[in-house]
Amino acid sequence: MNINIKKAQKKKSKPDHTILGFGKYFTDHMFTMEYTEQAGWINPQTIPFDDMAMSPSTTVFHYAQSVFEGLKAYINNQNEVVLFRPYQNARRFQKSCLRMAMPTIPEDDFVKAISTLVKIDKDWIPTQEGTSLYIRPFMIAKDEILGVHPSKTYQFIIILSPVGHYYPKGIKPISISINPIYSRSFFGGTGDVKCAANYSISLLAQKEAKEKGFDQVLWLGGKEHNIITEVGAMNMMFVINNEIITPKLDGTILAGVTRDSVITLLREWGYTVIERDMTVDELIHHLMNKSVQEAFGTGTAATISPVGMIEYKGTHYLISENIGVLSKRIYDTLNMIKLKTGSVHPDWVHLV
Ligand code: COI
Repeated sequence: MNINIKKAQKKKSKPDHTILGFGKYFTDHMFTMEYTEQAGWINPQTIPFDDMAMSPSTTVFHYAQSVFEGLKAYINNQNEVVLFRPYQNARRFQKSCLRMAMPTIPEDDFVKAISTLVKIDKDWIPTQEGTSLYIRPFMIAKDEILGVHPSKTYQFIIILSPVGHYYPKGIKPISISINPIYSRSFFGGTGDVKCAANYSISLLAQKEAKEKGFDQVLWLGGKEHNIITEVGAMNMMFVINNEIITPKLDGTILAGVTRDSVITLLREWGYTVIERDMTVDELIHHLMNKSVQEAFGTGTAATISPVGMIEYKGTHYLISENIGVLSKRIYDTLNMIKLKTGSVHPDWVHLV
């Protein structure tokens, strides 16, 4: 793939790192390429970040034929630009595309497109603790037609956003509410891929949790709607009696890159990690017995998000007001791997 590079004439001013938040500011350039059935992927290029004109009839607006990824770039201690396990994202993107009847992109092209763009906007990578350059590759259906069928044309785009902590609280424990009504996924559905619609269907439950004073939703799934699945947009882990329990990848759970990294580290440290179903009744039993030592979400955006309190049917179960020892160790180790290349798991760090 030969990428045509068009540089922006005017550079934007960069936001101060204290006001970054998550996904509010965008760099000077974006990557784009188009797909047609006849030609395959064409016109790979980096261009100045700009609005896109599209017909109101474009398929993506109507039927959400759209998939995305999320990963981060950092400047390491040797002043090099690094990505964290980008081939994992490349493979998951392919899986998402196939599930949504969209064309795939070769892994090497996916990573090359990201690397090329990140290099051009390298100056935008923030270096303060907790900050990074969030990379958002996504693909949309571009046919201008209202018929319900797979589009014949697509656009693949990558945008970059300097970010701080995902949650305004940083890595302070969040409160979560178990939602007994809504599901984010189901067997045979799309819970194990990163399609846009998975996130829009989660918004009402999230809004209701917020209105009740909670930070996020703990999702139930399974045939009886009683199995713990994910928290917000993250994978969920519990430390119970010194073992780590996390939902198994049963087709309704996203195979998170952070989830995989955390499980690998925990096993290397000698912990037992069990990937299995946990019913809400079992969780409540452990919460009542005070045997839940720590609970946390894992995801690219927040890395680790400790859970301090869980609400179910009006009862509040406190776990801890502070980040747990193991959660902190995982958070610090992942940061060290990203920033001190070569220390542990050099295989997880990709030099740009
Ligand atoms: C992540 O944690 O990586 C996510 O998927 C959240 C993202 C949708 C902002």
